[in-house]
Amino acid sequence: PTKITSIKTLAESPGLTSIPATHTFPPDLHGQVTSVPEGSIPVIDYSLLISGTPGQRSKIVHELGRACQDWGFFMVINHGVPQKLLSSILDGCKGFFDLAEEEKQEFKGNHILDPIRFGTSFNVSVEKVFYWRDFLKVSVHPVFYSPTKPAGLSEISLEYSQRVREVARGLLKGISESLGLEGSYIDKALNLERGKQLFIANLYPTCPQPELAMGMPPHSDHGLLTLLIQNGIGGLQIQHKGKWVNVGTHPNSLLVNTGDHLEILSNGRYKSVLHRAMVNSKGTRISIAMVHGPSLDSVVSPAPELLVSSKGDEPAAYIGMKYKDYLELQQSNKLEGKACLDRARISAV
Ligand code: SIN
Ligand code: FE2
Repeated sequence: PTKITSIKTLAESPGLTSIPATHTFPPDLHGQVTSVPEGSIPVIDYSLLISGTPGQRSKIVHELGRACQDWGFFMVINHGVPQKLLSSILDGCKGFFDLAEEEKQEFKGNHILDPIRFGTSFNVSVEKVFYWRDFLKVSVHPVFYSPTKPAGLSEISLEYSQRVREVARGLLKGISESLGLEGSYIDKALNLERGKQLFIANLYPTCPQPELAMGMPPHSDHGLLTLLIQNGIGGLQIQHKGKWVNVGTHPNSLLVNTGDHLEILSNGRYKSVLHRAMVNSKGTRISIAMVHGPSLDSVVSPAPELLVSSKGDEPAAYIGMKYKDYLELQQSNKLEGKACLDRARISAV
């Protein structure tokens, strides 16, 4: 397999003022970015979903439904994950990326489904131009893995994974209800007891020519819900009504986006959101995306309950596909918009 230097090592080359051709995208690639009025991105108060009065709860369920439908993205506040834990896990990941190149290469992984994988870009075996990103992907549920270095990362990662998973399941309960299903519907139908949880730490080193580089291209996530934190430096953009919008920095919130399997399960009511990561010349950005999906052996198709309504029957818009196969398909190809989901879509004849 091709050995490609990590972006961190590349970015730290003495006197680097321009980026190599291998990482250069056409200058017009990023297009226009619109700013939305302050406060327009939906905010969900998780504490009210969990322990609010019935009235407060149903209001949050309604807001969750709106956020999934209109944005595919929302910020969660009062989630109960301690601030201290958020900063420890970000520090732990920084510690990992700060290891020597040879130490990180030990965790390189050979297969898409290897439980621990350190790498650069997204999938260097199929890409022509590489992204300005190093990553560490670790499977943390149903079986917990962690790199053995740096010291302490494993313990913090276990705690962080469990806490965030709790929040994801709470949100999915509310989301089930917002679809008119039982609260436990998604949990049961997709066997979340054994649900796949993937920890993805992203490192976007300072880039001398951010306008010509890309941290991560437009894509949607394969799971149900992704919960993301970052180290105080923004770079995430989401597509909203056809335009790119900066998410910005929200140090105390969990940033949540809907994934392909929520789109499939909801038969397209809740579309997975396209997002991408930009880089900058001011400082190194670290983000941690936690992807929550069905169990690997779940075959996911649109919920039958959603295919019948007072307005008549609604045809299933997606074929059933085993999550493991979907994941392998997405991970072993280029990361390209919603190309993977398109293969599950039943086109209208
Ligand atoms: C991702 O899409 O997985 C990462 C996005 C980010 O770094 O903000
Ligand atoms: Fe993503």
